[in-house]
Amino acid sequence: MHRSLPELALDQIDLTTSVGGLRFSRPVLINAMTGGAHGVAEINRDLALLAAELDLPMAVGSQTAGIREPDVAESYRVVRHSHPHGVILANVGAGAAIDDACQAVEMLEANGLQLHLNAPQELVMPEGDRDFRGQLARIEALVRKAGVPVIVKECGFGISRETAKQLYDVGVRAIDVSGRGGTNFAWIEGQRGPAALDPGLEAWGIPTAAAVAEVAALELPGLDLIASGGITYGSEAARALALGAAAVGVAGAVLRAHQLGGAEAARQYLTGLLADLARAMVLTGAQGVRAMQHRPVVITGPTGEWCRLRGVDLLKLANR
Ligand SMILES: Cc1cc2nc3c(=O)[nH]c(=O)nc-3n(C[C@H](O)[C@H](O)[C@H](O)COP(=O)(O)O)c2cc1C
Repeated sequence: MHRSLPELALDQIDLTTSVGGLRFSRPVLINAMTGGAHGVAEINRDLALLAAELDLPMAVGSQTAGIREPDVAESYRVVRHSHPHGVILANVGAGAAIDDACQAVEMLEANGLQLHLNAPQELVMPEGDRDFRGQLARIEALVRKAGVPVIVKECGFGISRETAKQLYDVGVRAIDVSGRGGTNFAWIEGQRGPAALDPGLEAWGIPTAAAVAEVAALELPGLDLIASGGITYGSEAARALALGAAAVGVAGAVLRAHQLGGAEAARQYLTGLLADLARAMVLTGAQGVRAMQHRPVVITGPTGEWCRLRGVDLLKLANR
C-alpha cells in the first residue's frame, strides 16, 4: 500500500533481516545454482565476490558432485574463499545422508544448510529419483544433527501450507517457498527429453506469491520465510516481504545478467535491485524489514482468488 507521507529518508532504510537464526545484512540471497561442472567455478567466484562486495548471503548449488568427486569440490569452495566473512549456505537434497550433509557444511565452513525438495524435476528427468519416501524423517534428523540452521527449499514448484506445517512440526524454522513463476525445471528437463512434456506438468507448481501468502498466514511462531521463484525486480522483493517473507532469493535473474554481461552486469543488476527495494520501502513507510512484513497488502486477481479459496484472511492483510 502506497504511503504519500512516508516520513522517512532513503538513507534511513535498514535492510538487515534474520532467517532461521542467521543474520543477513540484506534481505536478498543469491540462491543455489552452480557447482560441480566445468566452467562453473568462475561463475561461483564472480557471484561470491559480488556477494562479498554487496554483503549478500549466498547459497551454492547441490554439493553431491563435490562430495562424490573431491576434485570438483573446489568449484564450491571458491565461494567461501571469495566471501570469507559472509553468510554462505551449503546445499544438498532433502534425502541426503547425515554424513554427506555434514561434509557439505564443512566443505564451505557454511553458516547454514539448504535442503532442497524437487520431486517434479526428478520425475521428469530420465535419470531422476523415483522414490520420495522417508524425506521428512531425514529432514527431522538433519535439523537435529547439522550443527547449523537448516533452510528447506523448493526449486521452483512452491511449498504449500500443508507441507510447511509438516516441516515446522519436525523442527524446521526456515523455509524457502521457491515457487512457480521463474526458473522452471520441469520445462528445462522437458526440453532435454525426446517427446513433448505434458503441458500440465510443465506448468506444475504453486506460484511464489500464493505460496508465501498461504504459508505466512499460518503465523507459525519463529518460522522465517524466504520468497524465491521469479523474483527479478526490487518491487517484487518488496511485495514478497510485505506478504510476510523475511528475505528473497534470486537465482535465474542474476545468472542471466552474468551470462549476458559478466560480473559487471551482475553487479549492476543486484545494486539496482537493492536500490529499488529500498525505494519501495520508503514508499510504503517501512523503515526496516520487520515493518515491511506488516504493511497493509491488497491482493487482487488470481493470487487473491487463490488466497480466498485457501482461507487466507485477505481483509486482515489489507487493513493491518
Ligand atoms: C542454473 C540453476 C541451477 C540450480 N541448481 C540448484 C541446486 O543445485 N540446488 C537447489 O536447491 N536449487 C537449485 N536451483 C534452483 C534455485 O535455487 C531456485 O530455487 C529456482 O531457480 C527459482 O528461483 P529463480 O526463479 O530466481 O531462478 C538452480 C537454479 C538455476 C537457475
